Amino acid sequence: MSLNRALILLGPPGAGKGTQAKRLAERYHVPHLSTGDMLREAVSQGSGLGKLAKPIMERGELVPDDIIMRMVEERLARKDCAEGCIFDGFPRTIPQAEQLDRILEQRGFGNPLVVEFRVSPDTLLHRVSGRWTCSVGGETYNIYERPPKVPGICDKDGGKLLQRSDDRPEVVRERLAAYDRQTKPLAEYYRENGVLETVDGSTGVDEVSRALTEILKRAEGRDGHL
Ligand code: AP5
Repeated sequence: MSLNRALILLGPPGAGKGTQAKRLAERYHVPHLSTGDMLREAVSQGSGLGKLAKPIMERGELVPDDIIMRMVEERLARKDCAEGCIFDGFPRTIPQAEQLDRILEQRGFGNPLVVEFRVSPDTLLHRVSGRWTCSVGGETYNIYERPPKVPGICDKDGGKLLQRSDDRPEVVRERLAAYDRQTKPLAEYYRENGVLETVDGSTGVDEVSRALTEILKRAEGRDGHL
């Protein structure tokens, strides 16, 4: 199965984009491109980019578009993106979306497929407050919905589980506000371009996966690839 396009998972913090992107990337053998993960890696390495992004992320605000676009363009130029990729947490502003459209056209990908996750604010806050992530392989757990077998330890590789510093309730509230202000308008942008699908992200992980599979099948029937 090949994707042959960019798939964009759009949704607020805690909507389940990362969880589903990991599954889809495995199924289609394409890279999972999370701009949040790229920025967190830069922060942990203490690079120039990391030093710039850290305080912005800790306030729950968005990192400037030019920095994000440079990072994404570099990543997209790698060979492993030749048969498509899954974007998680990108684009997040109209200028990012417009620039991505230009890049995809230059690379012969054409229109992306965009799936918007809809989840209520209470569910988002609950999910984010229970999230723990493996410091080694990045596996995500949730103490309420999907706890690890041994508290604090990753089932897959034994890595230590950590909570993200931007998952504190006051920062999550700012991230949700930033989403409403700057990212939500993208749904309208992509609806006007005829490439928007929506999924009920409030159901269980497997149910959301099934709904995404249906959306991808429909797109395959329509556009002839995937
Ligand atoms: P980023 O890392 O992208 O965070 P986010 O978009 O806020 O999304 P999250 O990672 O919080 O949630 P998710 O939807 O992936 O949910 P998950 O699957 O983990 O961005 C962080 C920061 O970086 C931003 O605030 C910004 O500063 C900066 N940044 C990043 N990209 C940028 C850009 N393009 N432009 C500018 N700045 C940028 O699930 C959450 C929890 O719920 C987990 O515990 C999971 O196990 C659980 N869960 C998932 N699905 C379900 C389900 N269906 N049912 C029950 N539990 C579930």
